[in-house]
Amino acid sequence: MNTSVNLAGVTLKNPIMTASGTFGSGMEYSEFVDLNKLGAVVTKGVANVPWPGNPTPRVAEVRGGMLNAIGLQNPGIDTFIERDLKFLEDFDTRVIVNVCGHTEEEYLEVVDKLSAEKRVDMLEINISCPNVKEGGISFGTNPKGVEHITKVIKAHASQPVIMKLSPNVTSITEIAKAAEAGGADVVSLINTITGMKIDIERQSFVLANKTGGMSGPAVHPVAVRMVYEVANAVKIPIIGMGGCETAEDCIEMMLAGATAVSMGTSNFYNPTATEEAVKGIEEYMKRHQVEDIQTLIGAVR
Ligand SMILES: Cc1cc2nc3c(=O)[nH]c(=O)nc-3n(C[C@H](O)[C@H](O)[C@H](O)COP(=O)(O)O)c2cc1C
Repeated sequence: MNTSVNLAGVTLKNPIMTASGTFGSGMEYSEFVDLNKLGAVVTKGVANVPWPGNPTPRVAEVRGGMLNAIGLQNPGIDTFIERDLKFLEDFDTRVIVNVCGHTEEEYLEVVDKLSAEKRVDMLEINISCPNVKEGGISFGTNPKGVEHITKVIKAHASQPVIMKLSPNVTSITEIAKAAEAGGADVVSLINTITGMKIDIERQSFVLANKTGGMSGPAVHPVAVRMVYEVANAVKIPIIGMGGCETAEDCIEMMLAGATAVSMGTSNFYNPTATEEAVKGIEEYMKRHQVEDIQTLIGAVR
């Protein structure tokens, strides 16, 4: 039985990966999960310098998921390389580093430093970050801008580049095509969907930031639909995510067209969700006599 998949020349032993920002750098979950069992560990977004993140409260539980407005708090690339990347050195899993920035230059500074790191297998570029030159509107909302930032990053990166797409756009297929035109090796989707929660007793916003990104099981059908549409619009591989909590959810993503699947919010309420999904996929393959997992990718047309 073959469970391995290929993302732009990088082989993963299985399609299950963590979603950026929900698994720390792997270290935080390594007491619960054998990282060697995962296809890849995707680390929390890292910037050129430490970011403090947004004021609290910055997470809230909602029906079927959660809202977060962490604001991409991170220790900065130098600490990340010395501490987090070093920790991952000894594990037999792929390492994908998620990158954030407020300007093109900030992204490039991180990409340049990571390009020199052998332990980094792929870069995932979060284009849902606020673009300071565009008045804080995210990099990921305009096809021309997405094509440009992809091209610029590709020119600097020594590893394959994954562009991580925002669902908060009119047409995610247009954005995916722009990333492909810019030379992206892979696209990943979806990032969180902008939401809001109001405390009616206090008559105020629950999050200090007012809005937050919605994730968890409730977004899953939206994510499956978007993965399916993008799979029909581009030729490059897709990493699917959004509300995956079981092996079945991950298989659904693959049938929709994803080559690999990231699990995010589910780690918070079931720390062993990723390892369980790896096992569950093998059981599904046995039950359905699937010899090669690659035959499941985009099998529903
Ligand atoms: C607390 C939290 C932090 C996140 N941080 C990042 C991040 O740093 N970079 C990024 O690209 N996505 C980030 N995300 C988005 C997730 O990687 C994922 O795209 C999204 O949550 C949908 O998947 P899920 O429903 O399985 O959580 C974060 C999500 C959550 C809930």
